[in-house]
Amino acid sequence: MDHKTNTTLLFSFLFFITYLIIIASSKDLCNENDKITLLKIKNSLNNPYQLINWDTTYDCCRWSSVECGDATVNHSVISLTIFSAQISAQIPPEVGDLPYLQDLMFHKITNITGQIPQTITKLKYLRSLWLSSLNLTGPVPDFLSQLKNLDYLNLAFNQLSGSIPSSLASLPKLAYVDLSRNKLTGTIPESFGSFQAEPFYLLLSHNQLSGSIPKSLGNINFDKIDFSRNKLTGDASMLFGPNKTTFSTDLSRNMLQFDLARVEISETFGVLDLNHNGITGSIPVQWTEHNLQILNVSYNRLCGRIPTGGSLQRFDSYTYFHNKCLCGAPLDSCK
Ligand SMILES: *[C@@H]1O[C@H](CO)[C@@H](O)[C@H](O)[C@H]1NC(C)=O
Ligand SMILES: *[C@@H]1O[C@H](CO)[C@@H](O)[C@H](O)[C@H]1NC(C)=O
Ligand SMILES: *[C@@H]1O[C@H](CO)[C@@H](O)[C@H](O)[C@H]1NC(C)=O
Ligand SMILES: *[C@@H]1O[C@H](CO)[C@@H](O)[C@H](O)[C@H]1NC(C)=O
Ligand SMILES: *[C@@H]1O[C@H](CO)[C@@H](O)[C@H](O)[C@H]1NC(C)=O
Repeated sequence: MDHKTNTTLLFSFLFFITYLIIIASSKDLCNENDKITLLKIKNSLNNPYQLINWDTTYDCCRWSSVECGDATVNHSVISLTIFSAQISAQIPPEVGDLPYLQDLMFHKITNITGQIPQTITKLKYLRSLWLSSLNLTGPVPDFLSQLKNLDYLNLAFNQLSGSIPSSLASLPKLAYVDLSRNKLTGTIPESFGSFQAEPFYLLLSHNQLSGSIPKSLGNINFDKIDFSRNKLTGDASMLFGPNKTTFSTDLSRNMLQFDLARVEISETFGVLDLNHNGITGSIPVQWTEHNLQILNVSYNRLCGRIPTGGSLQRFDSYTYFHNKCLCGAPLDSCK
C-alpha cells in the first residue's frame, strides 16, 4: 500500500469512529416502559420543581434523580433518589413498576405523608430502601421481608407506629437497619438474633420500645448499636464481651438494670454511652486495657472506685456524675 491509501484509510476509520460516538450519544438509552412509569411518578408527586427536567425531549437516563443500568438490563432505571425537596404527596405506588430498581430513596422532603406502598414488593432487585425524614405514618410493613436482596433499610425520622416486624430477620443480606426517631412500640424481636450479615448496624433510638433486649442479640457482630431513648428494661450485658467487634454502643435513657462489674469490653470499642439507666455494680478494671474515645455512665446506680488507667481518667466528671457512690479521679477521692 502506498502512503496515500494509508492516509485515506486512517481518515475513513477516524470518521467512522466519530460517527459511532455521535450515534451512541444521541440515541435514547432509556427503556420506554420506565420512561412512562417515571412520568406517572412525576405526576403523582404533583410535578415538583425538582423534577423539572423530566421532559420527554431528553433521554430519561439523563433526568435528575434517575440512574440507568448498563446493557445487561437494557438500560433500565436502577436508582431513583429524590431528596431535599418540597413536595406534598404520598410515595407513588408506581415506583413498584421500575422492575430493575436497586436503590430507592426519598429523603428530607417536607410533606411526604401516607404509608409505605405495598407495590415495592415487586422490586425484586431492591438493595437499598431509604425513606427518611419524611412524614410517613402507618407500620413498618411486614411485607418488607419479601425484598430478598435488601441490604440497607433506613426509615428514620418518620411517624411510623406499631411494633417492629420480626420477619425482617429473614432477609439474608440485611446489614443496616435504621428505624430511629419514629413512634414504634412493643419489643425488639427475638428473631433479630438471627441476622446473617456482619458487621451489623441496628439503630432504634427515639422510639417507645419496651421490654428486655433479647438474649439472642448476643450472637450478632454489631458495628453500631443505638437503642437510646426508649423504655427498655433488664439486662444488656449480652451486647458486650471480649470477642465483640462493636465500635459504638448507645443505650442511654432507658430503664436498663444490670451489673456492670461483669461487663467486659473488647478492644474495638470506641464509643459507649449508658447514661440515664439503673445500672448497678462498679466499673470493671478490665476497661483500663482499652482506649475508649467517648464514655458516659452518668445517672446510674454505680458504686466503688473508678479504676486507674487506660482512658478512664481522660474523661471529666460529666462522664461519671450522678451515680450512687462512684469515687476516685476524676470524681472526688474515695473515703
Ligand atoms: C432486553 O430487551 C430484549 C428485547 O426487548 C428482551 O428480549 C430481553 O429479555 C431484555 N432483557 C432484560 C434483562 O430485560
Ligand atoms: C401536606 O400535604 C397534604 C396532603 O398531601 C396537604 O393537605 C397539606 O396542606 C400539606 N401541608 C403543607 C404544609 O404543605
Ligand atoms: C411533619 O409534619 C409536622 C406537622 O404535621 C411538621 O411539623 C414536621 O416538620 C413534618 N416533618 C417533616 C420531616 O416534614
Ligand atoms: C473469645 O475467643 C477466645 C479465643 O477464640 C475463646 O477462647 C473465648 O472462649 C471467647 N470468649 C467468649 C466470651 O466468647
Ligand atoms: C453524659 O450524659 C449526661 C446526661 O445526658 C450529660 O449531662 C453529660 O454532659 C454527658 N457527659 C459527657 C462527657 O458528655
